[in-house]
Amino acid sequence: MTRLTGKIALVTGAARGIGAAIARAFANEGAQVIVTDVDVAGGTALAREIGGVFHHLDVASEADWDRIAKAVPALDIVVNNAGITGFEGPFDGPPPPQDPENASLADWRRVHAVNLDGTFLGCRYAIGAMRDRDAGSIVNISSRSGLVGIPAAAAYASSKAAVRNHTKSVALYCAGQGLNIRCNSIHPAAVMTPMWEPMLGDGPDRAKREAAMVADTPMRRFGRPEEVAALAVLLASDEAAYMTGAELTIDGGILAGSAATPGG
Ligand SMILES: NC(=O)c1ccc[n+]([C@@H]2O[C@H](COP(=O)([O-])OP(=O)(O)OC[C@H]3O[C@@H](n4cnc5c(N)ncnc54)[C@H](O)[C@@H]3O)[C@@H](O)[C@H]2O)c1
Repeated sequence: MTRLTGKIALVTGAARGIGAAIARAFANEGAQVIVTDVDVAGGTALAREIGGVFHHLDVASEADWDRIAKAVPALDIVVNNAGITGFEGPFDGPPPPQDPENASLADWRRVHAVNLDGTFLGCRYAIGAMRDRDAGSIVNISSRSGLVGIPAAAAYASSKAAVRNHTKSVALYCAGQGLNIRCNSIHPAAVMTPMWEPMLGDGPDRAKREAAMVADTPMRRFGRPEEVAALAVLLASDEAAYMTGAELTIDGGILAGSAATPGG
């Protein structure tokens, strides 16, 4: 497994879920991995497991990125993976509404600060850190929610749509500068990670709730973080040398059709 041998990769939000799976897959393919997250305990444990190093990084903090730029001034791969839905607690009561009519401006901004500002800052850092290398790959984790409207999670959907678009601006900017720095987005849906815990909850009905959530997914199951990581490995590797500004969906077939698609 040597598809990333000799490359240095930084993954944000890598303490758990999809980010952790990407960090593991990169290490398995021979990359030197810099694990970053706001979760110090989880990030440190993962870095130890895969033989990488951990840096605390709140992706919404420009000062944190400046610190990373000093500590890691040059590298080959950056994965902007850290993201929040707005439903992360703890809350005193039920989670606050995230729909277009009732969401608070503070919640709207908090989701965009992590998902969109974090990706902007990560891309800006990556271009600087890759400029003098032979090649670089930026992988932005958007979402199926960046391609359709999500009324119950409007800020999440808006931020992920902006991540998709910014990916293309970065790709065109780098190509226009004559830089061999590629930038692509991945659009997962329904991947079983701790992000789903607030929506699935505990108790005897959990399995029923899980099944209900993927009832409209053509493949009738949740995706696995390792399946998303496999796409990140492809985009990070030299096998994808001619891919930039592209968007890859990984969603069990959801976006292949619509609720109005005739059955059969
Ligand atoms: N799980 C899914 O079904 C799914 C679907 C589509 C897109 N995504 C996207 O994939 C990415 C990873 O999602 P996941 O399901 O693994 O989520 P997760 O909640 O399991 O993990 C997210 C990680 O990001 C970290 N994080 C949160 N805020 C941060 C910040 N400000 N700075 C740095 N790290 C921060 C968390 O500590 C955590 O380790 C997210 O961008 C998410 O939007 C997930």
